[in-house]
Amino acid sequence: MSDSLTKPRVVIGSDHAGFSVKEIIRKHLESTGYAVCDLGTSSEESVDYPDYGKAVGEHVVSKHADLGIAVCGTGIGISIAANKVPGVRAALAHDVNAACLAREHNDANVLALGGRIVTGEAAIEMVQVFLTTAYLGGRHQRRLDKIAQIEKEERGAAARRAS
Ligand code: RB5
Repeated sequence: MSDSLTKPRVVIGSDHAGFSVKEIIRKHLESTGYAVCDLGTSSEESVDYPDYGKAVGEHVVSKHADLGIAVCGTGIGISIAANKVPGVRAALAHDVNAACLAREHNDANVLALGGRIVTGEAAIEMVQVFLTTAYLGGRHQRRLDKIAQIEKEERGAAARRAS
């Protein structure tokens, strides 16, 4: 079986503040055999992080990728945006332990990173752990089911408020 068949398909996106770390991550993943879809941005010219958080999230929930990586200056804005996409569980991590637990406990499907906060080397370590750690299931599933239920109830409430 070829390497790319055993590795998750990755989608990556950033705003201008996350651009340089996003590029470091993308090059590392491509050089280690991952299939990477890069949704931009493509320079340090100012853009808006919600556009990229949404795009990464939609790419994951539509199953065009298995896992996503989203980078802005702090990782905060882009994680908030990605988490507005139903089905996204975006986790902001600043260390390897959080990146690991995001997969094991939360089945996070998007890793958010702060390009102005972490070094490229630290980002690569977190991404490596995130992409190779399995969800543990078990007791954690009940909690993820509750998150999905919140999403469902809130969608219904929003529809009722709008009508
Ligand atoms: C852009 O200046 C910055 O606000 C953005 O990258 C991010 O840190 C927001 O959360």
